[in-house]
Amino acid sequence: EAGEHESFMRKEILEQPTSSQAVLRGRLDERFGTAHLGGLDMDARDLRAVRRVKILGCGSAYYVGQMGAALIEELARIPADAEAASEFRYRDPVIEPDTLYVAVSQSGETIDTLLAVQEVRRKGGRCVGLVNVVGSAIARECDGGIYLHAGPEVAVASTKALTNMFLGFALLALQLGRTRDLSIADGKRLVAGLERLPAQIEEVLAGEADLVEVAHQLAEARSLFFIGRVRGFPVAREGAQKFKEISYRHAEAYQTSELKHGPLALIDPEVPTVALVPRDELTERNIGALHEIDARQGPLVVITHAEVDLGEVRARRIDVPRNEPELDPILLTIPLQLLAYHAAQHLGHDIDKPRNLAKSVTVE
Ligand code: BG6
Repeated sequence: EAGEHESFMRKEILEQPTSSQAVLRGRLDERFGTAHLGGLDMDARDLRAVRRVKILGCGSAYYVGQMGAALIEELARIPADAEAASEFRYRDPVIEPDTLYVAVSQSGETIDTLLAVQEVRRKGGRCVGLVNVVGSAIARECDGGIYLHAGPEVAVASTKALTNMFLGFALLALQLGRTRDLSIADGKRLVAGLERLPAQIEEVLAGEADLVEVAHQLAEARSLFFIGRVRGFPVAREGAQKFKEISYRHAEAYQTSELKHGPLALIDPEVPTVALVPRDELTERNIGALHEIDARQGPLVVITHAEVDLGEVRARRIDVPRNEPELDPILLTIPLQLLAYHAAQHLGHDIDKPRNLAKSVTVE
């Protein structure tokens, strides 16, 4: 039962300050600025032997996989990317012995992800899992893994499991990094950042009431864009996914940098854009793109940090707390969950069971 909450999705969104602590518990090492992931079943030598990381997942798990790939590449300096598990095996992929494959799944039962894991293992690759459901098919099929400990997730649209997936990737990136060239100072900085995150998630959720009206406005649009760059782009993809899944509005994610190469043609007063503009090395360029949108009277909602000065741009801004820049993506994701939720609620949709979708797709 969703209890006093009107839906499981809202209950699960609000659980995140607590559920996010569970994935970190017992895994952070403050003294050495690293993480301990016993379930991976890989010693330091195994971790050092990894030359590439390939992340496989579907839907939201794929998008958070892209966030994870960025974390691994930044912290461990190992080339990493994410691919839709549903496509992977159809292209007869080359499986390399020094690549670490990572399957991501809340349910652990998604058939496309399971078949991708089997493809990897059949060809002698090592595949670890980031899985929420203990003892699920994907967890059993993998060589080892990180359980997400998010608790049962009922709503089709993933929220708290996705947050723990991100944190699971942060732990993995930290451990991979610290067996290589990530300094102890950087390791400690990230451990402290991870320890701060649950309270910061709570801070974002405390601002829920301020987002309701803007969510209702977005719900009125027939089509909208979600834009971000580099770390912000997978956040935009996840935001668009959530919005389309439960509000049935056309929501498309784009790299902010690609706007001028196509979609700018669609911007007008009827097409709002939700832009991710964290305080980072790309802030000024991002603001430049906002000017382009504003000049065409495109309504703007900007998810940003208090330090960012949007200047003359007309926008509804939503500020989130800052963490370490590498960990900011998850704090930028939380308001997008709330926007999708309140848009769908405004439209009167069945939030937990959107039409045509299932929580886990177990047949091909
Ligand atoms: C989809 C669900 O079909 O499966 C998505 O509708 C989910 O919400 C995706 O992200 C992957 O599911 P899982 O259980 O493998 O994480």
